[in-house]
Amino acid sequence: MLIQQKEISELISCSYHKIYEQFKKNCIKTYYLSIPTDVLNYLKQDLFILPKECNLHTGLSSQTENTKFIGEASNFSDEEDDDDENVVPEFPEFSKQILEILDKLGGSAFIKTNWHSPKDAFWITAGQTLKARDLSDVYQLLKASSICKEDLNIVNVENFHQIVFKKWKEIHPGTEFRCFVRNKNLIAISPRDWPQYHEHFKTQKNDIIKDIVSLFKEKIKNNFSIDSYCFDVLRETKDHVVIIDFSPFNEKFTAPLAFDWSYLHGDDIILSQNNDEEDDNPEFRYLANNDVGIQPNPRNNYGFPLDMINWFKNNSNANEQIQNLSELSIQQQADDDDEQ
Ligand SMILES: Nc1ncnc2c1ncn2[C@@H]1O[C@H](COP(=O)(O)OP(=O)(O)OP(=O)(O)O)[C@@H](O)[C@H]1O
Ligand SMILES: [Mg+2]
Repeated sequence: MLIQQKEISELISCSYHKIYEQFKKNCIKTYYLSIPTDVLNYLKQDLFILPKECNLHTGLSSQTENTKFIGEASNFSDEEDDDDENVVPEFPEFSKQILEILDKLGGSAFIKTNWHSPKDAFWITAGQTLKARDLSDVYQLLKASSICKEDLNIVNVENFHQIVFKKWKEIHPGTEFRCFVRNKNLIAISPRDWPQYHEHFKTQKNDIIKDIVSLFKEKIKNNFSIDSYCFDVLRETKDHVVIIDFSPFNEKFTAPLAFDWSYLHGDDIILSQNNDEEDDNPEFRYLANNDVGIQPNPRNNYGFPLDMINWFKNNSNANEQIQNLSELSIQQQADDDDEQ
């Protein structure tokens, strides 16, 4: 993805650890760790070997057969000890800090890079969830996530990247909203669980808007460092809105959900120039009835076939077979190209 300098600076403003420092009181309890260079290089590598400490802590962990398989991949490399790439990595100090944070958060956490959660990798954990309960979960989720890997490649500045650990919270999808701010005006609110029908959107519409506008005006509007951005919130009960995330007001980085970007950028939206006086009056767009049928769950985009997981679990020779499969696929591709 080609990213311009202005976009990088907007991304930096939306880094979660910065958001947390500024809006701590309105966020879920969070710790974060700056990723040292050796760990960063390890996370960016495609080779999937878990650090040594993951095996040392199996007593504490919920490690499953398939995570063991990945850990064991390192043993395959014993034959090639002189090959630097296959040496089992170890980050004792960093791993210790991760364990301390998990402990402080009650034993589990929702993890993120500066910008994204590893939502494309939930299939790799024991419970097929983003809940990280041990070192293996943390390293596996980050290593298996292309979304997080992409984040780690965006900025190349030492000590810039963080692993964010938020206290795990069971969240009802109907309580989450994405809010769009253009030129300091809160212009639009969409359910994050779009396009799903939730009855209470209609019955509680005014209260939902009122609560989000209050948080925006009291805490965010005149305090955030950029003028146009999106923020996500959780509204579990009346008068209680929690900030989940910020992201750029930009189609490259943020899904518009119930809206589309041409509308959000367009002239149909009236913006007030007077930031102190104007009344934010966002459009709240939601499905008003349930006659659209069952909608696809976006999470399924990132699912991993159960058959494959079972196969990984039961197959001690999986690495070799992946290699064979990949060679076969390259050969088939070459044959197809020849035929064309
Ligand atoms: N602390 C938490 N505990 C459990 N689940 C969480 C937590 N924080 C967020 N989630 C869930 O994970 C989802 C994604 O979280 P978040 O918005 O932080 O990720 P993201 O990668 O930035 O997503 P997006 O790309 O859509 O902006 C949220 O919609 C929420 O349902
Ligand atoms: Mg986000």
